[in-house]
Amino acid sequence: MSDRFEVYYSELFGSRWPSLLEALKSDPQHRTIERGLTKPYHLDAASIAVAGLLPLDHAERVLDVCAAPGGKALLLATRMGGAARLTANERSSSRRARLHRVVADHLPDSVHRRVFVTGHDARRWGLYERDAYDAILADVPCSSERHLVLSAAGTAGWNPRRSKRLAIDQFAILASVIDACRPGGYVLYATCTLNPIENDAVVALAPIRRPVEVVPIEPAALGFTKAERTEQGIAVRPDISDGAGPMFAALLRKRRPIG
Ligand SMILES: C[S@@+](CC[C@H](N)C(=O)[O-])C[C@H]1O[C@@H](n2cnc3c(N)ncnc32)[C@H](O)[C@@H]1O
Repeated sequence: MSDRFEVYYSELFGSRWPSLLEALKSDPQHRTIERGLTKPYHLDAASIAVAGLLPLDHAERVLDVCAAPGGKALLLATRMGGAARLTANERSSSRRARLHRVVADHLPDSVHRRVFVTGHDARRWGLYERDAYDAILADVPCSSERHLVLSAAGTAGWNPRRSKRLAIDQFAILASVIDACRPGGYVLYATCTLNPIENDAVVALAPIRRPVEVVPIEPAALGFTKAERTEQGIAVRPDISDGAGPMFAALLRKRRPIG
């Protein structure tokens, strides 16, 4: 493991870092989702819990803007109402092919026919569709320490600038989907990183730049998965959640124009 990586995360998490690192290296806590599916799908317990945080009551148009491989898209598709439509977007063509397979293989026809897979750049979505969606999930690309710590190359190639670069793209995606959200609608921002630069700091910028408010999430809302409150949202960290996560989520609501 690279020294730079160790020092950076030790400074972030202090005496908690060794147990967090141990938990990151251990097997993730997968659960099987079956309800509403034609075939079971295995997913990290924290992902399942977080996908349940996006309010879908009365939602007619739902967008999952970074959707592959598709676990959370399956959960949104099975939670949404019988007339609602889900756009599941993925920019990478190879990952999009997998997303196509996942939704085709796991969703019953009655739901699958209301799921539309697209291949756009999420950072530019709001330029083309504005005020259009009732509920949006932005499960953005991130540092994903669980993957980094599994290989020496993962942390050797790591440096703190990487998170700063990712945060620029993450905010571009978040701002763009806020533009695409209808006033009164919800955006759920999620990552699988521990790094606050990619989590709280990205979300904190949103109400400064866009007409949104951050809606507090109660850690208890995650049900079976133990979560901790952060400045802007909640975090599931594997050292205290039986190996689930990492996952960060924050919920934003777009303001309605005054008058
Ligand atoms: C964290 S993963 C999404 C995981 C997915 N939500 C799930 O639960 O299975 C982030 C995805 O965003 C895609 N992505 C990265 N940049 C993107 C962009 N600018 N526009 C659309 N998709 C992007 C990546 O290829 C990756 O598949």
